[in-house]
Amino acid sequence: MNQDLPIGIFDSGVGGLTVYRALHERLPDERFIYLGDTARVPYGTKSLATVERYAIENSLFLEARGIKLLVVACNTASALALPAIRKAMSVDVIGVIEPGARAAVEEAGGKSIGVIATEATVQSHAYRNAIASRAPSVKVIERACPLFVSLAEEGWAETDVARFVAAEYLEEIKGSDVGTLVLGCTHYPILSRVIQQTMGNDVLLIDSGEATAHDVWMLLNEKSLTRRVLEDSERERHLCDDLDHFYVTDAAERFSRVAERFLGSAPSVLEAVEVWGHDELRTY
Ligand code: DGL
Repeated sequence: MNQDLPIGIFDSGVGGLTVYRALHERLPDERFIYLGDTARVPYGTKSLATVERYAIENSLFLEARGIKLLVVACNTASALALPAIRKAMSVDVIGVIEPGARAAVEEAGGKSIGVIATEATVQSHAYRNAIASRAPSVKVIERACPLFVSLAEEGWAETDVARFVAAEYLEEIKGSDVGTLVLGCTHYPILSRVIQQTMGNDVLLIDSGEATAHDVWMLLNEKSLTRRVLEDSERERHLCDDLDHFYVTDAAERFSRVAERFLGSAPSVLEAVEVWGHDELRTY
């Protein structure tokens, strides 16, 4: 395996940029290829079979471009399709559920844990199961918060509408004396300020993207796969600069606009592609 290859990341759309940001901050010497499946978003309301198919198509598309590791930034795809993706890929695959669950348990201090995510992720109980395998006696309260995705995309994260929606969604979890609350959907870190205000300062919010970046860093070190930086000029990296490549399956302009809102800069290299119907897909 060539250690200088980029790390592949995919999400159902723009939300995974929060995971890209966390990876970029933790691993500034690495390069990334990001695929946002904007033609088929949202995944959070789709069936297992559909999410698996989309996830495998995205993964094979990235693998065909040459990557040393795949990060499944999408919580829904991680919750539903990780075993299928691992079967289809020859590189290591890291999802966001395990790292997020581990961080939640470590920080909860034995208290209950709240999980907010898409409908599909909540129905899969992927976070609950991952938490139970580490801390079987810890109570987990899960809640789907689908409107948070639209609020983040609309740029309404800091509005009264967001505060009202958060108060409604989080009422039960707030009354359950949780120690940590997992932001189990790529978009939710965008609303973290409002969510924190609603929950109060005693509850620690767990950003699965940050926990995942830590695991990626560990794996690269373990496998001696960290990228070699040959020139000092290469260290002057910025989010979305031309060393990172972004692909979308539709609506590139919108992706660019929302990326600018999420990250403060739009991708320098952004291409619209189709990830289905390629030769390499016939083999899975
Ligand atoms: N990326 C999805 C997730 O993290 C949220 C958006 C969707 O429903 O596709 O679960």
